[in-house]
Amino acid sequence: MLALALPPVNPPVPEHVLLVGMMGSGKSTVGRIVASRLRRPFLDSDADVERRTGKSVPEIFAERGERAFRAEERAALGTVLACGVPSVVAVAGGAVLDPEVRRRVRSAGVVVWLDVAPSALFRRIGNGAGRPLLGTDPAGTLARLDSIRRPVYRELADVVIDVACRRPDAIAEEVVRASRGPLGAV
Ligand code: S3P
Repeated sequence: MLALALPPVNPPVPEHVLLVGMMGSGKSTVGRIVASRLRRPFLDSDADVERRTGKSVPEIFAERGERAFRAEERAALGTVLACGVPSVVAVAGGAVLDPEVRRRVRSAGVVVWLDVAPSALFRRIGNGAGRPLLGTDPAGTLARLDSIRRPVYRELADVVIDVACRRPDAIAEEVVRASRGPLGAV
């Protein structure tokens, strides 16, 4: 009897490509390039928070504090991740500290961590303008946040890309390759 290769009964579940990592690691820049190469929408949790609230991220921190910002961020990610169209999603740096957000991110697709050492981040970010968490000691704060978050990103990521000293389009190419997986899933 002939063995026929039958098509799968269920179509593949749409998967997002999710970029995680510290602020300044290039999630938005790389994410836009990846989205255009995969011909997918690009979604950004900070942009969604700003759209929902009509305020910038620094304004929300200044007027309502970090706790309120995190609640807006959780709500925005809930909407973004529920999007039925496979997308490329930049997940803001601190969002995945919330276990529920982590659970949703993990089950939403391929998670790629853009890894940069804090000293290199500091060189990129400089005085931290527009980044309310960094306060008056950006270098020290980046190092402290990195030590708390590094294990979280590592545990969450399917793929880790060391992005130090690399151009966004080269990093994007690696994300595209990694997101296709061994079976070319994307
Ligand atoms: C934050 C990262 C920022 C923004 C806010 C807080 C964080 O987003 O959500 O300033 O806690 O790391 P990006 O990671 O997109 O810069």
